[in-house]
Amino acid sequence: MAITQHKISSGFDAHSTAEEVLTGIDLTGKTVLITGGYSGLGLEATRALTRAGAHVIVPARRPAVAQQALHGLPRTEVWELDLADLAGIRAFSNQFLETAKTLDIIINNAGVMAHPYQLIGSGWEAHLAVNHLGHFALVNLLYPALAATGARVVSVASSGHFLSDIRWNDPHFRRGYDHWLAYGQSKTANALFAVHLNALGAGSGLRAFAVHPGSILTPLQRRIPREEQLAQGWLTRDGRPAEGFKTPAQGAATAVWAATSPLLEEYGGAYCQDGDIADPAATDDMLIGGVKPWAIDPDSAAKLWTLSSELTKVDAFS
Ligand SMILES: NC(=O)c1ccc[n+]([C@@H]2O[C@H](COP(=O)([O-])OP(=O)(O)OC[C@H]3O[C@@H](n4cnc5c(N)ncnc54)[C@H](OP(=O)(O)O)[C@@H]3O)[C@@H](O)[C@H]2O)c1
Repeated sequence: MAITQHKISSGFDAHSTAEEVLTGIDLTGKTVLITGGYSGLGLEATRALTRAGAHVIVPARRPAVAQQALHGLPRTEVWELDLADLAGIRAFSNQFLETAKTLDIIINNAGVMAHPYQLIGSGWEAHLAVNHLGHFALVNLLYPALAATGARVVSVASSGHFLSDIRWNDPHFRRGYDHWLAYGQSKTANALFAVHLNALGAGSGLRAFAVHPGSILTPLQRRIPREEQLAQGWLTRDGRPAEGFKTPAQGAATAVWAATSPLLEEYGGAYCQDGDIADPAATDDMLIGGVKPWAIDPDSAAKLWTLSSELTKVDAFS
């Protein structure tokens, strides 16, 4: 299925906040699941979604920290979940399905960046495992709850996908580990996941999207030394975000827009940024963004789906 991949004049831009893109959208009675919805961009998305009336389920690998971060926010629920633990994802999903609740929106937001080399479970590279394979298994296992409502699934990808296509011959870095390439591969995987999930789920009314949130200082950069952040141009000498960086409220906007905007109904599978569908990338400047062809290629998306279902032994559509 061809994807429309150009701006649609949504009326929003890089400055729009999560609250602004939800203006006029009533989520009363809707249930959203957002992984990592208690830190950085996820926390801002949770705040905005609850303000719009949604009930928000927040799976967290550190439930006590999540409870504290969400303290006082109405209609939020913390469940324990480590996306690096496939058995735990199965247990979480079974427990959720037993409640017979349905999900209107899943936002695959949790992620790691610049992680040291680590093989998880049966030998999966950590970025690919947490950022992609964990979410792949989660969404497939929760699909019965999603299919009931004609839901939206949003994957928080990144312009980091510029750094790497899927390394088909060595996805787990048996050779030549580089944490930026590993992050980049996992973010390409996030975008491709949306493309193929959208194709498979279209019959049930499901729409899937990938988003680049922009560049925002959050705990995501915790593994990058300050000197490197200065050298990358992310920080000013006095510790403020560099020009072109967004606030967390702006950074959360595109994910909640993709999760809710009626404008997107005909554009399933698209990669979005700045509160709109992204244009094809015209440069290699990740601050400008756009989408590279390998991140929206339908054949690669199908191939990655097959690889992911072989690795996780999960596939809602097989
Ligand atoms: N910030 C940016 O500039 C930027 C740019 C492009 C894309 N993104 C993407 O935006 C998303 C959110 O990032 P953020 O900036 O908001 O970072 P963040 O504040 O560090 O949030 C990431 C969340 O993921 C959770 N997480 C990490 N490993 C996990 C695991 N094994 N199981 C379950 N949860 C796990 C973290 O939990 P803990 O708190 O327990 O670690 C945290 O809640 C990520 O997917 C990131 O790649 C961010």
